[in-house]
Amino acid sequence: MNILLLGSGGREHALAWKIAQSAKTDTLYIAPGNAGTAQTGTNVPIDANDFDRIGHFVTTNRIGMVVVGPEDPLANGIVDFFGADSRLSAIPVIGPCRAGARLESSKDFAKAFMMRHHIPTARYLSVTQANVADGLTFLRSMPGPYVLKADGLAAGKGVLIVDDRAEAEQQLQAMLRGMFGQASRTVLIESFLSGTECSVFVVTDGTDYKILPTAKDYKRIGEGNTGPNTGGMGAVSPVAFADEAFMQRVEQQIIRPTIRGLQAENISYKGFIFFGLINVKGDPYVIEYNCRMGDPETEVVMLRIQSDLVDLLEGIAAGNLSQRVLTIDPRHAATLMLVSGGYPGAYAKGQPVSGLERVDGSIVFHSGTTASDGRIHTSGGRVLAVSSYGATLREALETSYRNAAHIHFDKMYFRRDIGADL
Ligand code: AMP
Ligand code: GLY
Repeated sequence: MNILLLGSGGREHALAWKIAQSAKTDTLYIAPGNAGTAQTGTNVPIDANDFDRIGHFVTTNRIGMVVVGPEDPLANGIVDFFGADSRLSAIPVIGPCRAGARLESSKDFAKAFMMRHHIPTARYLSVTQANVADGLTFLRSMPGPYVLKADGLAAGKGVLIVDDRAEAEQQLQAMLRGMFGQASRTVLIESFLSGTECSVFVVTDGTDYKILPTAKDYKRIGEGNTGPNTGGMGAVSPVAFADEAFMQRVEQQIIRPTIRGLQAENISYKGFIFFGLINVKGDPYVIEYNCRMGDPETEVVMLRIQSDLVDLLEGIAAGNLSQRVLTIDPRHAATLMLVSGGYPGAYAKGQPVSGLERVDGSIVFHSGTTASDGRIHTSGGRVLAVSSYGATLREALETSYRNAAHIHFDKMYFRRDIGADL
């Protein structure tokens, strides 16, 4: 089967790496991809949100399956687009329909969904200009810190955590006035949960599901989890505290009610669900849903899936996931993000990358790279993810750090404390 993978980051390179290993894959295309995916498959210069051109490419290149990496094509309804076109409707697209993607694209929807299905999450109130007064009363009813979230997609930047109540009240007003554009015309005020976060992923065909390896990512730019949020500076898998007892609770209290809830609401969901969880004294709570895999979590999770990913994806598409096998590599995996100096603020692009040929024992996934004249250049804030296996977490981390030292580009930065808290 020919497969088309949409997206261009480290997540997509890791997915491409795994998909290319399957005996079921003929040609793997990545649209638009990056310099790393070009080494794993064939890049196609089509934007992941250009559905007309994607549809045309799919029919002219005998694509048997489309795998969607990022959230925006799903939120924009690529699954619905294929379903509504008689030439495309037989071709499975891995991901939820637009209504299912609302678990990520509308935090207000996700919260109301969790309430309807009794899924543990922080207490909240949804606020618009019409009920600001209720929002202010709600803020005054709770202790800090105060969590304010833009309802819509805001490129991971739409969450403010504020210690001081007066400041929270001001920020709430500013968000409602459009601090994050349309995304913050509705704002959620949440009670603050204190605990340790982890990411749990499932694949589902809408009825059955399989739980992928757990992971923890490191979102802040600075060591000791300081400074602004980023897309993620590194990840490890498995997560020691997500032990069997914890995962049993996650499955019973969160995963099953989510899948049953989607079914009960007639929302077609054939794809990945990312549960952003927080462990509060042994009890899991949902911080957020995403309708896709995580980045950089995918750069460790794919290493630990032993079985054929394409076989699992076929099970999703065919609705017989329960007949497919998921085996997990018992080894640990770690990934380290090498980023452009200045990120997540302004940074330079087009810097030549050297030393990749000296990497030994790690898998380097490209996040933000381009190739020209046979050389790799930086093209994004997050540039490379150095992923490694290890018999222990320490060993996996040591291998990634050893190989990161071989790689160079101007103002390259990485955190030296990934996994150090576990
Ligand atoms: P989100 O985009 O909803 O995942 O929020 C971004 C980050 O804000 C999360 O990864 C958490 O670190 C933090 N956060 C979000 N909601 C809460 C909450 N209710 N309590 C504590 N921290 C939170
Ligand atoms: N690593 C967090 C995310 O992909 O949203």
